[in-house]
Amino acid sequence: MNDTRGFPPGGTPAGEILDLVRSERSGDLDWRSGRAFSLVYNVDDPDLEALQHEIAGMFLHENALNPFRYITLLRMEAEILAFVRDLFGAGAAALSSGGTESIFLAVLTAREDARSRGVAQPQLLCPTTAHPAFAKACHYLDVELTKLPVGPDGRADPERFADAVSDRTALVVGSAPCYPYGVIDPITDLAAIAAAAGTLCHVDACLGGYLLPFWEELGESVAPWDFRVEGVTSISADLHKYGYSYKGTSTILYRDRDLQQRQLFMYDDWPGGLYASMSAAGTRPGGPIAGAWATITHLGRTGYLRLADRVRTATHGFREAIDSIDLLQVTGDPDLSIFEFGAAPEATLDTDAVGDAMDERGWNLDRQPGGLHVMLSPGHDRVVDTFAADLRASLEEVRGGRVGTGAGLAYGGVVEE
Ligand SMILES: Cc1ncc(COP(=O)(O)O)c(C=O)c1O
Repeated sequence: MNDTRGFPPGGTPAGEILDLVRSERSGDLDWRSGRAFSLVYNVDDPDLEALQHEIAGMFLHENALNPFRYITLLRMEAEILAFVRDLFGAGAAALSSGGTESIFLAVLTAREDARSRGVAQPQLLCPTTAHPAFAKACHYLDVELTKLPVGPDGRADPERFADAVSDRTALVVGSAPCYPYGVIDPITDLAAIAAAAGTLCHVDACLGGYLLPFWEELGESVAPWDFRVEGVTSISADLHKYGYSYKGTSTILYRDRDLQQRQLFMYDDWPGGLYASMSAAGTRPGGPIAGAWATITHLGRTGYLRLADRVRTATHGFREAIDSIDLLQVTGDPDLSIFEFGAAPEATLDTDAVGDAMDERGWNLDRQPGGLHVMLSPGHDRVVDTFAADLRASLEEVRGGRVGTGAGLAYGGVVEE
C-alpha cells in the first residue's frame, strides 16, 4: 500500500484496498447499533437496506444530467415527483442533492422573483434557529440575511417578522421543525405576514417533511406547516432524512409551477448545444434517484406510517428517561422526535462532560451550546433502556467530578490536508 501522501504512483490491488477499508471502518460511527444520532437515519429494516444496496449498485455509474438517455431514471424521477406532489399537495416539485441545495434553490427562486418586482437588494427574514444553509445561500447568492430572535418557546416570533418585513423582503422563512429545538415555527402567522407584504414564504421541512404527514396520521397534533397554510409558497423536504433513502436526495416543492420556473436554468450560448437544468448540479448521480424511488415504492404510506410509529415510541422512551432525572430538562416543548436536553434550571451540570461519558459508552450525542441534541430514528426504539441506564451512569461520573473536553462541539467540519 502507498505510504506517501502524494498522488499514488502505482496501483493497489482491490483486495488490499478492501482489507484496509474494512479494518479502518471498525473505528467509524456504528449507526446500526442505534447509538448514533442525526448523521444517519437508522430504519432498522434489513429488507429495505438490502434493496438500497442492490439498487445503488445497479445505478452506480448512470448519469441523470440528460435523463432522456436513461429512460429508467427518467421514469423513476418523474414518479418520485408525482409521489411527493401528491403527499404535500404541491403544484410543482424538483429533486436536489440535499437540504442545503433545496434551500439554495428556494432562495434563488425568491431572489429572482424579487428582482422581477424591481427589488435591487433582496432580503431574507428568518428566525435565529433557521439552519445555517440559509446563511450560506444568502452568502453565495448575494441576498441580505436578517435573523430575528425567537420567542421564549424557541419558535419564531411573528411580531419581530411583522416589524422587519419590508418591500425589499424576498423571502420569509420558518422551519418545520428547526434543528436545534425540534419546534415548528408559527407558519400560519409567518405566511400571512409574507402574503400581506406581497412576498414569498418558505417552510424548511428538510427534517420534518417526510415525518410530519405520518405523525399527523398517527393522531398526533401537528401545528399547520404545509401548503394547506395560505401564503406558504415553497417547502424543502429531505428524502435522505425521514424519507429513509440514502444520502443525496431532497425535494424542493412549490405551490405553483410558475414559481418553480424561476429555478430553471437554460443555456445554449456555447458550441455544445442546449443545456437545461432544474438544480445546481450538472452531472447528477443516478444512484440517489434510484434509491429514493425504490425506498418510497417499497415503504409506501403504510411503511412510512409504521416507521413514524416506531419513531414516536422511541421519542416517548427517550423523553421519559430524561424527564425521570431531576438534574436534566428537555429544552422547550419539542413537536417531534428532535430535541435538546440540558441542565434543569436549578442544577449545575457540565453537559459536555455527560456527552463525553456517553461517547465512551458508544453513544454519539450531538453537542450544542444549550446541551445535548437528540434526533431519533425508528431503530432507537430498541435502545431506550440502555440509553436510560447509560445516561444515569454518565451523570454519576460527572457528579463525581468529570469535566467536559469540548471535543464534540462541532456540527459540521472541514477536511484539509
Ligand atoms: C432543519 C434543517 N434544514 C436543512 C438542513 C440541511 O440539510 P443537508 O445537510 O441535507 O444539506 C438540515 C440538516 O440537518 C436541517 O436539520
